[in-house]
Amino acid sequence: MAVGIFDSGLGGLTVLEAVEKRLPEVPFVYFGDNAHTPYGVRTADDIYELTTRGVQRLFDAGCDLVILACNTASAAALRRMQERWVPEDKRVLGVFVPLIEALTERQWGDNSPPREVAVKHVALFATPATVRSRAFQRELAFRAIGVDVEAQACGGVVDAIEEGDMILADALVRSHVEALMRKMPEPDAAVLGCTHYPIMAQSFQEALGPDVRVFSQASLVADSLADYLSRRPAMVGPGQERAYLTTGDPDRVGRQATRFLRRKVEFRAA
Ligand code: DGL
Repeated sequence: MAVGIFDSGLGGLTVLEAVEKRLPEVPFVYFGDNAHTPYGVRTADDIYELTTRGVQRLFDAGCDLVILACNTASAAALRRMQERWVPEDKRVLGVFVPLIEALTERQWGDNSPPREVAVKHVALFATPATVRSRAFQRELAFRAIGVDVEAQACGGVVDAIEEGDMILADALVRSHVEALMRKMPEPDAAVLGCTHYPIMAQSFQEALGPDVRVFSQASLVADSLADYLSRRPAMVGPGQERAYLTTGDPDRVGRQATRFLRRKVEFRAA
């Protein structure tokens, strides 16, 4: 019984925290590819190679279902993985769809044609690779019409978080929000389209102002996973053990994770 949570580094911990709270009986195995983070500045081929390697490690740990708690991997690699790599008895799911369902107030499996929705001006903050992929706009277009999306590639923010330099991360977030607001002065919603960014949620909200509703993925993915497992309970794989795996330095990653999650977390080498 284990479900895998994959990220390029520490960002997926924001999703892990929410899914562990929502589904306390499910053992989660976390994989952080900290040795190769950030993914956001890599090519799609590179992201595909690294993501398949990490997900295979999670399959080997007894997970039949893996959540890509990484927008960059979801945007640049997921479709190709689903089309030609994921074995028939395994599933790999991304993090875009639950977010877009919440933004457009549509339910899972609602396949009716795209329609007008309440939000009109959406600010998307994401990594350069996610912005370049236009995956968010593509998924949104299946469900909604008349939504203007302005995307800001937030270079440097993931590196600063991985380095533990929160002062730099805060300054970068504020300058990226300013740059976005020069292009779209009055967004009605902002999407934190990178799982590292909820760690800086307060900086985003302060810079955007109180009138902008900020959507982040953790709790939305947790609800969506709970719903998925209630319909497909067999997808909780044979693994029994909770584990935190990293391609980076386990002691260093464990210390950073302990700080973010405010509880002791021990990583081991993947
Ligand atoms: N947390 C990731 C995401 O959601 C990864 C960022 C990166 O490695 O650049 O996009």
